[in-house]
Amino acid sequence: METIKLPEFEDNKPIYFKELLNKRHTVRSYKKNKPLHLMDLSYILWTAYGFKKDGGRVVPSAGALYPLDIYIACGDIDVREGERLPKGLYHYLPEMHGLKILKTNDIRKDIAKAALSQMWMAEAPCMIIITAEYERITFKYRERGIRYAFMEAGNVSQNIFLSSFNKGLGCGIVGAFDDNALKAVLGIKISHEPILVMPVGYK
Ligand SMILES: Cc1cc2nc3c(=O)[nH]c(=O)nc-3n(C[C@H](O)[C@H](O)[C@H](O)COP(=O)(O)O)c2cc1C
Repeated sequence: METIKLPEFEDNKPIYFKELLNKRHTVRSYKKNKPLHLMDLSYILWTAYGFKKDGGRVVPSAGALYPLDIYIACGDIDVREGERLPKGLYHYLPEMHGLKILKTNDIRKDIAKAALSQMWMAEAPCMIIITAEYERITFKYRERGIRYAFMEAGNVSQNIFLSSFNKGLGCGIVGAFDDNALKAVLGIKISHEPILVMPVGYK
C-alpha cells in the first residue's frame, strides 16, 4: 500500500503551559467547511506518538513496548502549499513520520454511528483513532499490560488535546462506542482494539 511522508511542521509560537491547559476542553462542535492544514495534522500526530530526536518517544510506555497504533479518518484536508490529503483512512507510521493509506473513502459518519450515533463527531475534518494491540505488552506484563496500554492511551490523548489547542484547533474525546461496530467500520488488523476516537478541527 502507498505511503505519504508527512510535512515538516512549525512549533515556534510561545505559549505558557498554564494558558494551554486553561484553554483545553472537549469540543463537540466544529466549523464544517474549514479544513485542517496537513502541517498541523503532522504536528498533532508527532505529539501523539512520534519519535524524539534522541530516538525515544514523546510518551512514556511500560517496558518501552509501545502497544498503541494511531489511525486517522478524514475528509479532504487542505495543505498550506495547496496540495490535498485525499479523504480516507490512514495508519500513522511513527518511524517515517508518515501515513499509510488504508481506505480512500470517507468513513467519518460510519465512525460516528458506531460511537452510539454521536453525529457531532462527523463534522470534524479529521478523527484520530487510538488502538492497542494488547499482545505487544501482555506477553511481558500479563493482564496488567492492558491497564498499562490504557494509561499510555491517556498520555497520547492529552498530547493530542494540547497540541490541537496549541495550533488554534479544537479536539474531542470519545470512549463510548460499540467495539465490534467500530472495528467493522475501520476494517483494520483484528488485533488492533480501538480505545479512543478523537475528532480534531476548528471550533
Ligand atoms: C475516557 C473518556 C471517554 C470519553 N467519552 C466521551 C464520549 O463518548 N462522548 C463525549 O461527548 N465525551 C466524552 N468524553 C469527554 C468528557 O465528557 C469530558 O472530558 C468531561 O465532560 C470534562 O469536560 P472537558 O474535557 O471539556 O474538560 C470522554 C472523556 C474521557 C476521558
